[in-house]
Amino acid sequence: MQLRYLSRKDMEALQISMAEVMEAVEEGFRRKAMGQTQMTAKAFVNPRPGEAGLMSLSAYVGGVDAVGIKWLGTRTAERQPGQPLHTGLVILNDPETTLPICIMDAALVTAMRTAGANGVAMKYLGPARATTGAIVGCGVEGRSNLQSMLTCYPGLAEVRCYDVVAEAAVMFAREAQEQYGVTVTPTSEARTAVVDADVVVTATSTGATPFLKAEWLKEGALATPVDLWGAWEADLAAKVDKLVVDDYGKYDAFRSSERLKDIPKPYAELGEIILGERPGRERPEERALTMMGGLPVQDVVTAHLVYQRAVALDAGVCLPL
Ligand SMILES: NC(=O)c1ccc[n+]([C@@H]2O[C@H](COP(=O)([O-])OP(=O)(O)OC[C@H]3O[C@@H](n4cnc5c(N)ncnc54)[C@H](O)[C@@H]3O)[C@@H](O)[C@H]2O)c1
Repeated sequence: MQLRYLSRKDMEALQISMAEVMEAVEEGFRRKAMGQTQMTAKAFVNPRPGEAGLMSLSAYVGGVDAVGIKWLGTRTAERQPGQPLHTGLVILNDPETTLPICIMDAALVTAMRTAGANGVAMKYLGPARATTGAIVGCGVEGRSNLQSMLTCYPGLAEVRCYDVVAEAAVMFAREAQEQYGVTVTPTSEARTAVVDADVVVTATSTGATPFLKAEWLKEGALATPVDLWGAWEADLAAKVDKLVVDDYGKYDAFRSSERLKDIPKPYAELGEIILGERPGRERPEERALTMMGGLPVQDVVTAHLVYQRAVALDAGVCLPL
């Protein structure tokens, strides 16, 4: 038995498309809604309280028959230029023997699966046609979520982006233009980016004080905040027509905090909508909001997709166990 090690470069070289990630993540949501997944609660350790911590998340996904664990670090204190918010590893195991079969970069898996989950939300809850998108927070998640936005809405005429660090927004816009040929316009204030946008992704760093107002989300628009209540003021949850979550239990945990104790019960889990148990978007004028804290199921199905492609292409380095 061999253990395959995939560096970040190896993973990028596999050229897995966001459409493929969305398909895998959608299957993860479906299996969860069918009761075919097992997940542990996130477990945290904080070697530098208030500055840096790590958490572990593990899951088994039936049907896909994939099992693994993500060990994710988060540095919330000030970072050196280029130092990422999230770091870590994913380990996949053979479900039969339990032997580890693959280790890969968790930061990339996280960026792929979070954007993939938002892409699935856009498919079921987003407007049928979108001409303008907004990205607030132009970091790692802003970049991967731009991919899912463009995958769902290839006809987008314009994307606006805002970051508290103006140069970050300018660099984001330049990169997007070069990579995807899409017009991305940096804005000097958040409101300008969001007002009139059909789809709004917020991906600001943990700790941002909410600064987006509910009335700025236009009729018929979808907001998919990666940063949960980082950017949007919490009353948005009560003002949208449909509030969709990835997991009721996780959402209830948010509601136990003082600031969020008044947020309403959600309309559905995304998996229930995928299964057809609850309707997704029903009217063009509906405003929808997702609150998805991220599930280990999504990490495992995404890592499994990467692993399968790596085996097919014999990518990475095989190490003796
Ligand atoms: N829900 C999930 O499953 C999930 C998964 C991964 C990351 N996240 C969260 O997503 C967020 C972004 O993660 P990332 O890895 O992209 O971080 P990052 O540090 O790469 O990017 C964050 C960007 O937000 C900008 N920013 C910070 N405060 C801002 C503000 N007030 N207004 C506008 N921009 C602001 C920063 O300048 C930076 O460019 C974090 O809050 C992270 O915890 C959530």
